[in-house]
Amino acid sequence: MNKAYSWTFWNREFDSPILLASGTAGFGLELMEQGYLDGAAAVISKATTRRPREGNQPPRIVETRFGLLNSIGLANPGVDEVLETLLPQAADLPCPLIVNVAGETVEEFPAVIEKLEQSPVPFGYEVNVSCPNVAAGGITFGASPETVERISSLVKSVSSRPFSVKLTPNEGSITDSALAAEAGGADSVTVCNTFLGMKIDWRTGEALLKRKVGGYSSPALLPLTVARVFNTRSAVGIPVLASGGVSCAGDILELLAAGAAMVQVGTWLMRRPNAACELMKDIIRLLEGDSD
Ligand SMILES: Cc1cc2nc3c(=O)[nH]c(=O)nc-3n(C[C@H](O)[C@H](O)[C@H](O)COP(=O)(O)O)c2cc1C
Repeated sequence: MNKAYSWTFWNREFDSPILLASGTAGFGLELMEQGYLDGAAAVISKATTRRPREGNQPPRIVETRFGLLNSIGLANPGVDEVLETLLPQAADLPCPLIVNVAGETVEEFPAVIEKLEQSPVPFGYEVNVSCPNVAAGGITFGASPETVERISSLVKSVSSRPFSVKLTPNEGSITDSALAAEAGGADSVTVCNTFLGMKIDWRTGEALLKRKVGGYSSPALLPLTVARVFNTRSAVGIPVLASGGVSCAGDILELLAAGAAMVQVGTWLMRRPNAACELMKDIIRLLEGDSD
């Protein structure tokens, strides 16, 4: 890795600006086995909740012409199993692990984080107040600045580690919610989660996802993320972690230029499991003056 460039967030210096986005890299274990974590500054885990969740009924992933719709619904083994099995294995990752946390109630967030505090492994937390795929909590939390501030301050009161609050583009104002997260003590905000979307087979009139609507991610969403990162960064003093629409190194440099401290790569990783390494090589190439 080229040491001439560095990116800093949460008071730590990294030789890459790339974070692997929640839900697209598991706990990083499979990618580690393949040697695919080179180039990643950190892995953000799949959402962790208090109890195990099976998630939504299939089909819960549908490809559309220009992107992916998912309605996974926070499937995960629950925080006890994460503590017992996944975090000890994740201690071997070659980069830090940030644990993504979700909850159906406001109190569930600090409850899960209190348990995670027992493990030395997490570098920090990403507080997901923006899942589009659950009936309770999810977007409704992220759309209310009062709730975002309350969750942030509850997390702050139990966490010895930094945390980012992941915001929703689907309801409310991202800027207001970002200010609320900052007021509650968040160390950064993640801008943002997937956009609500739906695909219907017009012949049958049926939605292709069992839950009908899901979260849409696509390279075409990049300009929407750039605008939201730029506006949020202008409003808050804490760092902004960009998430949404990255499919090449130029996209990452553009989001950094918009004011992001770090940039997450999600859906692209499902297409290119070695994306972190590939993108990082291209970032260095571009920064050294090659044309894109
Ligand atoms: C299959 C899938 C599962 C996801 N699961 C989560 C999750 O558990 N928690 C979360 O905060 N975001 C989750 N996301 C959202 C991603 O972390 C990311 O914010 C979003 O996909 C936009 O980035 P991208 O365009 O790079 O994919 C998921 C996305 C996908 C595609």
